[in-house]
Amino acid sequence: MADYFDYGGGKRTMTSSDSIRMDKLCYSIGGRKILEDFDFHLERGVNRTILGVSGAGKTTILKLLLGLLDPDSGSVSIGDLCITGLPESKFMQQRKRIAIVFQGGALFDSMTVGENVGYRLFEEGRLSQAEITKIVIEKLSFVGVESAINLYPSELSGGMKKRVAISRALAADPDYIFFDEPTTGLDPIGVYNICNLMQRLQAEGKTTLMVTHDLATAFATSQRFTFLNKARMLFEGSEEEMKSSLIPEVREFLGPTDRSLFI
Ligand SMILES: Nc1ncnc2c1ncn2[C@@H]1O[C@H](COP(=O)(O)OP(=O)(O)O)[C@@H](O)[C@H]1O
Ligand SMILES: [Mg+2]
Repeated sequence: MADYFDYGGGKRTMTSSDSIRMDKLCYSIGGRKILEDFDFHLERGVNRTILGVSGAGKTTILKLLLGLLDPDSGSVSIGDLCITGLPESKFMQQRKRIAIVFQGGALFDSMTVGENVGYRLFEEGRLSQAEITKIVIEKLSFVGVESAINLYPSELSGGMKKRVAISRALAADPDYIFFDEPTTGLDPIGVYNICNLMQRLQAEGKTTLMVTHDLATAFATSQRFTFLNKARMLFEGSEEEMKSSLIPEVREFLGPTDRSLFI
């Protein structure tokens, strides 16, 4: 099955195995609709940000895409496989193509940085300790924190924790990397470092999906934008299309552009 996308650079053909998608997905928590008839498509090679206010349901979307939550109705597909309703063991291969950097980093406090990064590979039991150590050093070097290999998470700054969490996500060599609010709480240099890392990952062929309310980071790292508002996808498009959107909620989210308002 081929889908056609036009991103201004001309039409190109992609197979469904090159994407992750949600179709007509509904999800509620405690009777409150978080997502309603949500269609979403993350194409391989097109870096995307999902924007929305706090509590809109952004983290929930990532968990649904990973199969960590089950939708009330509708479906999630990774590549050619619809994972909805399947036991985890049946979609592990597809799931391994995706890594996630959780908002808080979600590092194990009782393990060193090196053990955190190599944990998944160690659990899999496929590689020798020497091979795992080589990968751990390589991934820590990529994010510039190899000197922290023997430290514990409690000894790291917020920015370093984020970078370790990214190197852990890279250990299994995923095709897609999800970022949950990667710049929230960081100072401007920390934000710059994360944007720079995301751009380098993209240059290496990884596809990134970020959820955030940080517009500057979104525009620095993504080509396509999805705006989640009141359980629905209110907008999907490029930066230019978003900035010229006449949808009131989109304009409000982007903030006042009329400088005279600040005077
Ligand atoms: N386990 C939970 N129990 C109750 N409410 C939850 C739970 N997880 C999320 N929510 C609620 O669902 C909504 C969406 O949450 P979330 O996806 O975390 O939003 P976002 O990431 O956009 O801030 C929020 O209003 C949140 O309070
Ligand atoms: Mg969240």
